[in-house]
Amino acid sequence: MDQLPVIIFGAGGLGAAALDAFQSNGVVVYGFLDEDEALHGTEINYVGVLGDPKDDGYLKLIGKKCAAFIASDDNIIREELVEMLNERRKVMPANAVHPKAVIAETAEIGHGSFIQMGAVVNSQAKVGNHCLIHPNASINYGASLGDFVQVGAGSNIGANVQIGEKAFVGSGVTIVGGIKIGENARVGAGSVVIKDVEEGETVFGNPAQVMK
Ligand SMILES: CC(C)(COP(=O)(O)OP(=O)(O)OC[C@H]1O[C@@H](n2cnc3c(N)ncnc32)[C@H](O)[C@@H]1OP(=O)(O)O)[C@@H](O)C(=O)NCCC(=O)NCCS
Repeated sequence: MDQLPVIIFGAGGLGAAALDAFQSNGVVVYGFLDEDEALHGTEINYVGVLGDPKDDGYLKLIGKKCAAFIASDDNIIREELVEMLNERRKVMPANAVHPKAVIAETAEIGHGSFIQMGAVVNSQAKVGNHCLIHPNASINYGASLGDFVQVGAGSNIGANVQIGEKAFVGSGVTIVGGIKIGENARVGAGSVVIKDVEEGETVFGNPAQVMK
């Protein structure tokens, strides 16, 4: 985990969870930035919401002095903020890996991803950039997740499953081993996926069926 102090973009529930992950790793969180003005001047666990994500005064700290972490589960906002950090500060956001997540030695994790408490990323699994792996989700051996993928709490991603960019897997989902989930696909909460899901499709149920 990046040891520079961190500025967290987003002071909602996900921001508070990221704060916990950084603080549990002994990393200082400098503050939050959030576009909701009503939050400015408030605190989460004594860490202040300093101002707006586009405020140059704070942005200029990011790079040599501070790292950045994006705590939004809206992929459009995540993408915009990643682009802004790449262009204006020439940096990628840091990963937040909770110390109570279990990551195999041979697993690979990109940049800007959040691996929450209780999650497991098993041997040779790959998690791309800007992914959100919610509490107690399990990514089994050899599975691979593209960039901006979200895996809901308690979901079980079987061995060698391949999940395309920006796909969304709800909470409590089981995806059996070897299945492919296309880019931008969505899997409804509680589903059991036993066959491949095409790009952009939404499926749910047991067995998961395409939502018309
Ligand atoms: C599948 C999903 C992505 C679809 O979202 P959506 O496009 O907004 O669709 P809607 O919620 O409007 O649902 C459309 C229909 O599908 C049904 N449906 C949606 N998800 C369902 C599910 N998981 N199981 C059974 N039925 C479901 C709805 O009841 C609705 O039926 P109706 O048209 O007869 O009323 C969403 O319902 C879902 O399950 N999201 C997961 C959320 C989650 O787990 N978040 C936590 C992450 S930690």
